[in-house]
Amino acid sequence: MLVTSKEMLERAKSEGYALIAPDYYDNNSCRAFVHVAEEFNLPLILSFAPESHYCLLSLEEAALIGRYYAESAKVDVALHLDHGTKFETIKKAIAYGFTSVMIDASNCDFEENVRRTKEVVDYAHARGIEVEAEIGHVGSGETYGTEDDDSIYTEVETAKKFVELTGVDSLAISIGTAHGQYKGTPVINFERLQQIRNAVDVPLVLHGGSSSGDENLARCAREGISKINVFTDIVTAALEAVKNSDSKDWFELLKISDEAVKDVLRHYYHICNCVK
Ligand code: 13P
Repeated sequence: MLVTSKEMLERAKSEGYALIAPDYYDNNSCRAFVHVAEEFNLPLILSFAPESHYCLLSLEEAALIGRYYAESAKVDVALHLDHGTKFETIKKAIAYGFTSVMIDASNCDFEENVRRTKEVVDYAHARGIEVEAEIGHVGSGETYGTEDDDSIYTEVETAKKFVELTGVDSLAISIGTAHGQYKGTPVINFERLQQIRNAVDVPLVLHGGSSSGDENLARCAREGISKINVFTDIVTAALEAVKNSDSKDWFELLKISDEAVKDVLRHYYHICNCVK
């Protein structure tokens, strides 16, 4: 069933586990994610990142596919717009039926991030839609730990003020993960997580889940993260599975990649404490 993310995130927060939010990029990945959620009888935050994947799916196509699988699912599925940076895109996503949106103005200064987030919150809340925003900045794994690292750790007081000023429903924070493959080894600042958790009431979100370390992610889930975004590991696993196969049959290769995609999601559901 297609739902908003509010109740599933509040529940994850109060029961101490994290939901997984995988980014789909085609019909097969979308279907594979929903099937795994049904297998576990768990909710899913089905995410689409238009600015990264528009060459594969337009926003409208993604909405049609996502809504189809979400509406026919046997479990609760929120359809989430990931990393929306433009108000126009976010408005379109809401019109097309996304039930949750992210406004990512984490590259802007504090005042501009607040202004842009608040604009989206007012618009979305008037339509019953949930909003995620980011404070601090989760950078790229390619420059992780180097002098070009573009990550900015989230400050506790800034996070608190940001939530108060914007009325956002969930908050993405930067505590040591990065998007994509890591250059070095991810180091998570659990102390910062705990401080933010104590200061901020809304569910917290962790971007850059891929290859962040199972024990790190399990601990994040136990200690206050309610949603973990995963993408890179999914496509990496699909590619590896196809490369390692001897098959020359395209349909069989599609099946092999679907299975690899499902296995990654199963793995993350397990480590984030939500499979009991
Ligand atoms: P990874 O590709 O590092 O898993 O990050 C995904 C993400 O954060 C999408 O918002």
